[in-house]
Amino acid sequence: MPSSYENGLRHYHCYLFLWSVLSLLVRTGDIPIDQFNSCTAVINKRVISLQPLAKRNGPRIFTVYNSWNYSFNPCFSFDEPENPHEGFGDQCLSVLVCKFREENNRKFYYTLGFQAGAKFQASVGEDGNTTVALIYQGFRSFRHRKTFVTLVCDRNRTKDEDALFVIKEDKGKGNIEAELHHLCSCIDGCPNVTLTQVTSATRPQEDMLDLDSKIDPGVDEGNTSIIRN
Ligand SMILES: *[C@@H]1O[C@H](CO)[C@@H](O)[C@H](O)[C@H]1NC(C)=O
Ligand SMILES: *[C@@H]1O[C@H](CO)[C@@H](O)[C@H](O)[C@H]1NC(C)=O
Ligand SMILES: *[C@@H]1O[C@H](CO)[C@@H](O)[C@H](O)[C@H]1NC(C)=O
Ligand SMILES: *[C@@H]1O[C@H](CO)[C@@H](O)[C@H](O)[C@H]1NC(C)=O
Ligand SMILES: *[C@@H]1O[C@H](CO)[C@@H](O)[C@H](O)[C@H]1NC(C)=O
Repeated sequence: MPSSYENGLRHYHCYLFLWSVLSLLVRTGDIPIDQFNSCTAVINKRVISLQPLAKRNGPRIFTVYNSWNYSFNPCFSFDEPENPHEGFGDQCLSVLVCKFREENNRKFYYTLGFQAGAKFQASVGEDGNTTVALIYQGFRSFRHRKTFVTLVCDRNRTKDEDALFVIKEDKGKGNIEAELHHLCSCIDGCPNVTLTQVTSATRPQEDMLDLDSKIDPGVDEGNTSIIRN
């Protein structure tokens, strides 16, 4: 009879093995991305940039889901509220994504993502269309949770105030799924952002905060990104 310790170890190895196989399979469809900052990337020499949506002062886009408020600015960090120390919870201090609400006359704030951890990913679907998403890593209470913002190309939303941010799923645990609908969510969609502008202004970032190194230290991701189905 193997001890429960040996059993546990066996399960652990089995898990590790499956994880490696699965991650290899999942990675075969990767699309390389050169990420220039938290809201600009180049995919196959085509630009995706949310820069025209960004304002330097304060969160730009709000949404409400299940009685929670969410604020989002893909390019510039903000504090929520203006004096974040007034709030309860984990506070939103210099963040890109914040989740908050009022309970019993107290306002609670939770950080869903910082600029430093923001990461683009791209995948090709069965229809051959490329889907681009931004991934954020939460903080404190949300440190084990990621927020995936899928960029949904909507050519009718041309002005910055047309941007639509929606939460599709937030079950209180696991990852949070969201969408950003705008013309600038289209690859090569933003009329005023060109490849030359982007590549001459900045260099691609070295992997900033590597979200995946914690779970899979063996794989060198370089400038490619992970695909999740
Ligand atoms: C990563 O970037 C380097 C230099 O920017 C480039 O030479 C290389 O081909 C890129 N790798 C991938 C997988 O895109
Ligand atoms: C959440 O959003 C609603 C609607 O915009 C607003 O009335 C409420 O004050 C917000 N809650 C907090 C805690 O700011
Ligand atoms: C795929 O892209 C084509 C052309 O860009 C578009 O017409 C079609 O609706 C897209 N399919 C999906 C499922 O988004
Ligand atoms: C964009 O606008 C056109 C014309 O008003 C409409 O037919 C189309 O359905 C709209 N597309 C989306 C994605 O809302
Ligand atoms: C793009 O540039 C034109 C001309 O420079 C300007 O009028 C327009 O507002 C810009 N559009 C955006 C989305 O920045």
